Order: sequence, then structure tokens, then C-alpha cells
Amino acid sequence: MALCANDPSLHYIDTDLPEVVATKRDMLTQLPLGPAPNQHFELLPLNALDEAAFRSVVEKFEAGPLTIVNEGLLMYLTLEEKARLCQTIHAILKQRGGCWITADIYVKRPADLRMELPQSAGERRFFEQHHIEENKFDSYEAARAFFAAQGFEAVAEAVPDYKSLTVLPQLLAVLPEEARNRQEPPPKVQATWMLRAV
Ligand SMILES: C[S@@+](CC[C@H](N)C(=O)[O-])C[C@H]1O[C@@H](n2cnc3c(N)ncnc32)[C@H](O)[C@@H]1O
Repeated sequence: MALCANDPSLHYIDTDLPEVVATKRDMLTQLPLGPAPNQHFELLPLNALDEAAFRSVVEKFEAGPLTIVNEGLLMYLTLEEKARLCQTIHAILKQRGGCWITADIYVKRPADLRMELPQSAGERRFFEQHHIEENKFDSYEAARAFFAAQGFEAVAEAVPDYKSLTVLPQLLAVLPEEARNRQEPPPKVQATWMLRAV
């Protein structure tokens, strides 16, 4: 919303499942956000696995290349569902040009690391219910091979700047003592890739 307010040329469509979009719309009416961002900010319901619905959202954009961005979706999807989503995005990017930035390159965590991060009983239930750990990639090489088989090439990886994360103080506060005092950077459990359809 801030990007759209600052750059009138930007067309941004935020999507999520219908019930989440309803909650977000409700929040937008309650938050003191000042003047509404331009009409190029849209909040629309979309099941990303519904190819026809995905295409009708994409058609709302002006002609030309697109950037498709997602964060926190692939670990809800089985390998077969991920492949379906890849097919949809691949066809769209081949047609329109542009790229896909996904922050969801999560790899399965070793058991000791899983134990280290504190998790409430509710969080544990949620992870189990959605098979989050099983839905992660076996390794970064396996993720690269998966996307290559779907016709994508990973052309760039984001370099995280942990110090600028606004949640870092809260995260540090809940980490066990030895993890908090460790000098080396945290183990890599996730990557953000820019993918191009080849
Ligand atoms: C971890 S959250 C990510 C939130 C998101 N990055 C944001 O800023 O709002 C995961 C989101 O994925 C959504 N989701 C799960 N399955 C989906 C699907 N098939 N299509 C679209 N969204 C889905 C959930 O509703 C949830 O809001």
C-alpha cells in the first residue's frame, strides 16, 4: 500500500484465499491509514491453484511484463500442487514476460534445529495439520532441480539483512541462551529466489 501511495504508476494486486481477504478488507476499514492508496492497489480473493481464476486476476494488469511475488504459500502445497502452480505461472510468464519471486524455498530442517526453535503447542498442531515440514524441499539442489523440471531457472537469490529485520529483537528474546549468543550467522533454512520461465 505504501509503495502504491508513493508511486502512482505501480499496479499492485494483493491476493489470498477469500476468508483472509475478507479479514484484510475489514482491517483496512478499521486501521487509521490516512488517504486511500490509488486505484492501482487491489485486494482480491484467489485460490492460487485455480488456473482460470489466476488468469483472470492477471488480465487486470495492463499489457507487459509482470512480477509475481509470493511469500508463505509453497509449504502448504504438495509437490503435485506446486507443479500445478508452476505450470500456471510458467504459461503466464511465457506469454507476458517478467519473473516470479518466491520467498518459499524452505528446506527440511535437521531434527536438532527443529528442537531449538521454540514452538507453542498450537504452532506444532498447525505445522502437523498442514504437513509443513513434509512439504518443504529436501535440499536447495532438489528445489533447483524441481523448478528446472517445471521450466524455470533461478536467476538471483536475495541476500537477507538480518540486522534490519524489525522482529529481530523479539526473536532473539525467545531463543535459547546458546542460540542467542552464537557468533556465527543463523543456519540457512530458507531462500528467496527470482525465477524466470525458460
Ligand atoms: C504464511 S501466510 C503468508 C501471508 C502473506 N505473505 C501476506 O503477507 O499476507 C500463508 C497464506 O497463504 C494463504 N494460502 C494458502 N493456500 C492458498 C492457496 N491455495 N491460494 C492462495 N492463498 C493460499 C493462506 O490463506 C495464508 O494467508
